[in-house]
Amino acid sequence: MKQLNSSSIQRNNTFSSIFVKFGVCFLFLGLAYRLFSSSFVQFSPVLLGDGGDTGLPVDTTTPPPPRLLAEPPPETTDVDRLVSPASHNASQNFTETCDLFTGEWIPDPNGPMYTNTTCRTIESPQNCMKNGRPDFDYVYWRWKPKDCNLPKFDPKKFLNIMRYKSLAFIGDSIMRNHVQSLLCMLSPVEEAVEIYHDKTYRNRRWSFPTHHFTVSVIWSPFLMKAFTFEDDNGVSTGLIKLHLDEVDPVWTNAYEDLDYVIIAGGKWFLKSALYYENKTLVGCHNCHNENITQLGFGYAYEKALSSTFKFMADSKKEKNKTPFILFRTSAPDHFENGEWDTGGYCNRSRPFKMGEIEINDTDEIMRRVELGEFERAYSSFNDGEVSLMKMFDPTMLSLLRPDGHPGVYREFHPYEGKGRDAKIQNDCLHWCLPGPIDSWNDLIMEMLVKDSKL
Ligand SMILES: *[C@@H]1O[C@H](CO)[C@@H](O)[C@H](O)[C@H]1NC(C)=O
Ligand SMILES: *[C@@H]1O[C@H](CO)[C@@H](O)[C@H](O)[C@H]1NC(C)=O
Ligand SMILES: *[C@@H]1O[C@H](CO)[C@@H](O)[C@H](O)[C@H]1NC(C)=O
Ligand SMILES: *[C@@H]1O[C@H](CO)[C@@H](O)[C@H](O)[C@H]1NC(C)=O
Ligand SMILES: *[C@@H]1O[C@H](CO)[C@@H](O)[C@H](O)[C@H]1NC(C)=O
Ligand SMILES: *[C@@H]1O[C@H](CO)[C@@H](O)[C@H](O)[C@H]1NC(C)=O
Ligand SMILES: *[C@@H]1O[C@H](CO)[C@@H](O)[C@H](O)[C@H]1NC(C)=O
Repeated sequence: MKQLNSSSIQRNNTFSSIFVKFGVCFLFLGLAYRLFSSSFVQFSPVLLGDGGDTGLPVDTTTPPPPRLLAEPPPETTDVDRLVSPASHNASQNFTETCDLFTGEWIPDPNGPMYTNTTCRTIESPQNCMKNGRPDFDYVYWRWKPKDCNLPKFDPKKFLNIMRYKSLAFIGDSIMRNHVQSLLCMLSPVEEAVEIYHDKTYRNRRWSFPTHHFTVSVIWSPFLMKAFTFEDDNGVSTGLIKLHLDEVDPVWTNAYEDLDYVIIAGGKWFLKSALYYENKTLVGCHNCHNENITQLGFGYAYEKALSSTFKFMADSKKEKNKTPFILFRTSAPDHFENGEWDTGGYCNRSRPFKMGEIEINDTDEIMRRVELGEFERAYSSFNDGEVSLMKMFDPTMLSLLRPDGHPGVYREFHPYEGKGRDAKIQNDCLHWCLPGPIDSWNDLIMEMLVKDSKL
């Protein structure tokens, strides 16, 4: 029985069985998962960290660290920053009376807060309506936690909480998807002004000038220093080299100047890779070399999250301050009858009800690693009564939304001139905008305002 029940998994800390399930991961063998890049454009070779002393070229796309715009925040001391507005009562850690992440999707006749015409920044692969998706039901649902009501995102309140603050989304293309949703939801109050992007638009930063608020998205799909080799079609031309004990400077360089961080690992860890520790090859995942130990992706994921939390805890100790951290659990995909490159599709038009779907073995391994590492790290971020790190856990509520992906409508009018039985690649990983990922912001809003004095 592996119902996705966050509280039971949280209490059940036996990780011993995880590694038994690594067999599953072989299904992912050789998946050069270009869907992970929302634009489906890859650059070759992609360098995710700086070259360090590995002799590889240095990444020139590192964004400058975010800075507060204009004058510094009035009357804000470090102590203030620690307790307010991100004041989170540590006693609410795992025993909150309302678990925001257990519940169901209920009909919402109000529909989304924005459309493809009111929000001008929706990226084309997520702009399902513009791309001709014929059904609209998927935007008329809202997430209802079992024991409480989740208020709708309030852009005015959010921008007020974030006045003079900087927020960064750190991770893979799901983070990019999430930040796009946030920009759309804030746009009725203030439109974001882009103030930085790198060559590939993977690292970007926006400002909300009247609120002195900056939002960045930082591309670091492994969170660790990693070197990937892919051609323009996302097909792997060499094994990824992943350093499991070296955090990726692309985010750590920016980290100390941030007030809020949303960070996650995710599906990139399922890719075939060589694993390094202390600059020494320690093993691999799907490398087809009998001389290299098969460690499996769970091993790498655990090490990477552990190194990430260690960096953040050390930084807090050293600087005596920390950004408020939301650690996001991973978002499952919904490919059916195949993978992204083998005809998998997602054409359901309704959410699942609780119990209609179970988390699958691969996603379950990732989840156990996430919960385990989070729980291990958690106490380092308690500050008296206040917890400065929270788990943002959209895994289950997202699992219930097979209807929210672009599917074939990641392309503009995909069937035009092709006929209905044309073979068209689906995106069953990212989310339509508007779409279910908007509810992630309702949840984040709720996590931020809880206990805040605003
Ligand atoms: C945290 O919650 C407990 C119990 O709900 C309460 O007694 C305590 O005062 C709270 N602390 C803060 C800082 O809000
Ligand atoms: C969660 O809060 C309770 C009550 O304050 C505390 O006893 C427990 O140790 C906390 N758990 C963690 C993992 O910090
Ligand atoms: C918005 O979506 C509608 C379909 O719902 C489409 O007709 C229209 O062209 C789209 N507009 C923009 C600006 O994308
Ligand atoms: C890392 O490698 C160096 C040289 O290869 C060695 O001297 C050192 O002891 C190693 N450190 C750890 C923690 O294994
Ligand atoms: C493994 O090592 C042996 C002995 O050094 C060598 O002959 C063989 O080619 C290696 N296999 C691979 C796949 O590199
Ligand atoms: C479960 O895992 C398989 C591959 O093992 C994958 O195709 C599928 O998309 C995953 N997710 C769900 C929700 O079935
Ligand atoms: C979904 O697509 C499959 C394969 O193309 C098709 O057999 C099925 O009828 C479709 N289902 C819906 C609800 O459109």
